Amino acid sequence: MTHTTILESLATDEWFIDSPDLREFVAIAKQILSNTAGDRQETLNTLEPHFATLLKKQDWLPEQFAQPNHHSGLGGGIGQWLLYRSQERSLTIFSLVIPPNSITPVHDHLSWGLVGLYKGRQEETVYRRLDNGDVEGRAQLQNLGTYKVKPGDIYRLLPPDGDIHSVKATTVFTPSISIHVMGNDTGNILRHHYYPEAESVKSFRSGYSNAPYKENL
Ligand SMILES: [Fe+2]
Repeated sequence: MTHTTILESLATDEWFIDSPDLREFVAIAKQILSNTAGDRQETLNTLEPHFATLLKKQDWLPEQFAQPNHHSGLGGGIGQWLLYRSQERSLTIFSLVIPPNSITPVHDHLSWGLVGLYKGRQEETVYRRLDNGDVEGRAQLQNLGTYKVKPGDIYRLLPPDGDIHSVKATTVFTPSISIHVMGNDTGNILRHHYYPEAESVKSFRSGYSNAPYKENL
């Protein structure tokens, strides 16, 4: 089962926070994206050290983008706060705030991406899809393992095999916060929510906590 979401370009780049550190990172990311357009593995390789530098700075994410959200498109009170979106929607940056002991659905992203832990602790469980999507609503996943993630750690997303996971906050009192750098408008596209034990899948659109999905922006 595949979905193609065609989203129109925006009038301009959108900034949801005013941060010189984020602006500097976006400028570098745009340069790298155009230099590595044909090879997304190379995009990840080249971008990762710059992302690591951004993650180490701990004072650029405003408090309101570090909060859970009880109207979350991901459920579980998970905040998904859009920080930046390029005009072509081919680069988005958002924070994902998972309350203590909450867990995301098993989901995909349908794009290359870098995810870095900004605060707290998480466990990521990674899956690989075994079937070819021929049967509507069915999906068979293989569990590839669960990995502990601590602040400063970065993991990569790259479809088709490195794109399906669930993430759990393992902190007890405070949310865990990860920063996502994605090659699509992740909140606005139709993607997949998997149910590994039932071997089923359905489409969903997460939206963003501060920029809900609208048919026409
Ligand atoms: Fe994810």
